[in-house]
Amino acid sequence: MFNACIIGTGSALPEKALLNSEIGEFVDTSDEWIVRRTGIKERRISLKEGEGTADLAALASQKAMEMADVSPEELDLIVVGTVTADRLVPSAGCMVQQILGAQNAAAFDISAGCSGFLYALTTVKNATCSGACKTALAIGVDRISTILNWKDRGTCILLGDGAGAVVVKASEKETGILSSHLKSDGRLWELLYSKEGNSYVPECLEGLKPKSSYLVMDGNRLFKKAVNSLTDIANQALKQNNLSGEDISILVPHQANMRIIQATAQSLDIPFEKFYINVDRYGNTSSASIPLALDEANRKGLIKKGDYVMLITFGAGLTWGSTVLRWCF
Ligand code: ACO
Repeated sequence: MFNACIIGTGSALPEKALLNSEIGEFVDTSDEWIVRRTGIKERRISLKEGEGTADLAALASQKAMEMADVSPEELDLIVVGTVTADRLVPSAGCMVQQILGAQNAAAFDISAGCSGFLYALTTVKNATCSGACKTALAIGVDRISTILNWKDRGTCILLGDGAGAVVVKASEKETGILSSHLKSDGRLWELLYSKEGNSYVPECLEGLKPKSSYLVMDGNRLFKKAVNSLTDIANQALKQNNLSGEDISILVPHQANMRIIQATAQSLDIPFEKFYINVDRYGNTSSASIPLALDEANRKGLIKKGDYVMLITFGAGLTWGSTVLRWCF
């Protein structure tokens, strides 16, 4: 058995920053309301040619591979967490593989709502620890703007586009991914769902575009379920690893909403200062939220070799999960 170590992180964001005040031009909302209820000030929206889901994912991956000093040929597995692949067929994973030139890899997608990245990372970890693969990419990416109802002020203010990736390598060291807990509860899928459809529709078929492919959400019930589930799964992870909140150097939560993060911090015995937060700048980037924040924290030098790092997620499905790592580099 090997350990699975993250040896590189990367992220990518579209150029266009959409401010709260700009959203206020087309729905009845205000910067003041959005900041008070969510902590979000702006988010990135992918509008340009060359900023598709696979393009953003590949860019984030290239940055992670550069940090890890890993070539495309060395990759033997690419797992992408996403709900907005550019096409229904093929997977975003195969499109990323093509852009990277990673000809020796197997590539596929995982759909787990905002929890997609931790589901991808756990899949990569299991493949690595069993010896089935040596060097892999786990990616979280979403162009969630493509499935938003821009007339619904209850949802369109919350989300944004982005990508994050990590390179995972098999190692005989003691450090690496220590635990993964994943959960889902399909009974509650109607708290957050898209009615139908896929994000890509060719221009010639524009008239046939599903009218209701956008997200529908019960925000109040989601809020409570998110706080309870994140707290439970974080406590489970601490217990399994025989760690206390004090042992955790940095906690990277899913960046859904500042109030969800604050309420989770209050329920857990982990100081709020240890939570890494960028929801103010990017909103909720769905599957990209955790790897994007992890990469930012890493590049700012906030994570040191040997640190205990906790990742916690929650999303549509419903799905939730946690991962505890001992940082390798
Ligand atoms: N601007 C102004 N007013 C608004 C807006 C808006 N953008 N959205 C809703 N309102 C109004 C409502 O219509 C309501 O008005 P009323 O009192 O006249 O009926 C009022 O504000 C209060 O609405 P609530 O829904 O009760 O507001 P709440 O404080 O619950 O905040 C929010 C709503 C931000 C959506 C919150 O419930 C939330 O964050 N839920 C979690 C949702 C989430 O994060 N989903 C992402 C995916 S799941 C995940 O990642 C965890």
